[in-house]
Amino acid sequence: MRSIEPPLTVRDKIVWVGGVNILELAQQFGTPLFVTDENRLRDNYKRIVGAFASTYRKFSLQYALKANNNLSILRILRSMDSGADCSCIEEIILAKKAGFPPNRIIYTGNFNSDLELNMALKERVMINLDDTAQLTRLMRFGRPKTLSFRINPGVGKGKYAGLVFGGKRTKFGVDEKKAVEGYLSAKRFGIRHFGIHMMSGSAILEKEYFPRVAERLLKIAGRIAKKVGIEFEFINIGGGFGIPYKPSERVLDIQFIGKEVGELFMKLPSKLSLGTPTLMIEPGRYIVGDTTVLLAKVHGKKKGAVTTYVGTDAGMNTLLRPALYGAYHQVYVANRIYHRPSPENITICGQICENTDVIAEGRRLPSIKEGDILAILNAGAYGFAMSSQYNNRPRAAEVLVNGSTVDLIRERETVFDLTLHQKIPERLKN
Ligand SMILES: Cc1ncc(COP(=O)(O)O)c(C=O)c1O
Repeated sequence: MRSIEPPLTVRDKIVWVGGVNILELAQQFGTPLFVTDENRLRDNYKRIVGAFASTYRKFSLQYALKANNNLSILRILRSMDSGADCSCIEEIILAKKAGFPPNRIIYTGNFNSDLELNMALKERVMINLDDTAQLTRLMRFGRPKTLSFRINPGVGKGKYAGLVFGGKRTKFGVDEKKAVEGYLSAKRFGIRHFGIHMMSGSAILEKEYFPRVAERLLKIAGRIAKKVGIEFEFINIGGGFGIPYKPSERVLDIQFIGKEVGELFMKLPSKLSLGTPTLMIEPGRYIVGDTTVLLAKVHGKKKGAVTTYVGTDAGMNTLLRPALYGAYHQVYVANRIYHRPSPENITICGQICENTDVIAEGRRLPSIKEGDILAILNAGAYGFAMSSQYNNRPRAAEVLVNGSTVDLIRERETVFDLTLHQKIPERLKN
């Protein structure tokens, strides 16, 4: 047995997840199939919590449900004492269904409707507003116990332009000046408990970025607290912790980040009269990204003018990230892993009627045959979550592997799901 990349190992030239041969999984459950390794999920959670909490004990991790909303995954994380970061009411309902208590749920929407504001109040979750203008609307429905604002710290970083959420070109958050006005009016409305938040980008692999931007937020928080005359119960530095997608990329040094950020929280709040706030983070990708491999079956191969197309049953409807950002996902031919790469330039695509229907471009892989099973790595974050029924393709199934135990955690959709909410007016029947 040889480990290739978590959560995969190789035995007899075939890829395994945990104690399970993925060819057997593909046969039993069909493809495309998302296969999640429970032990990797638990390890990722423990590693990131340990990195922060060992330096600064007043720490809370809010798992970002948008990365992967599978209820079984949520239940595992909750059983390990995770909190939840929710971007809409539906995510709050999912989090509650998985057992997250309201006081461990933070709701960060943007351009919230009245209905959403009202429901967030009723659900008694922590409310984090993306704009100060929303406060007056929120107050029409009641007064939240705790309120925070999402700050745009003036800088941002992300692996792709679409993943930069701070700085000048983003719809998210408010600047420091506007935040001061927001907290002042919150105080006038009688709100007594406050937090502050930022989320400045995603898929970041530069370890130094995190303490740098955390220090920036702490200083912003210090100035706001002084001007407004409040303390912050929590300071949320967001998610954004990257994972290596390309073979050339290195694992993020989360121990360094936890220690450096933790030390800032030990040192700066007392200097800035910020009391002893809870250090909050809200990672998605770091926890679920590398837990999951997407299995796809090869249905054909066609020589084009500049590349050879390998067509599989997983396309942009199954894994959108390559089409959306040009994102890279490592691909293995799971049933012939150590064969030498053929000289062909390969483009792996799906069955969707779009030219953007690409999973991987410009790859050299062992010569691929119809019927081969491909393993597409790092599909746990924004994988199933971003999948769609485009071209009327039912969404894929998900299984959870723990050692040699395999559980189906989401059934494959069928044609029935495509018409589930459609209505035909009486006048069109007959
Ligand atoms: C507000 C907020 N928090 C947390 C996350 C999770 O980010 P990541 O998966 O990069 O950790 C996101 C992702 O878009 C987000 O928008």
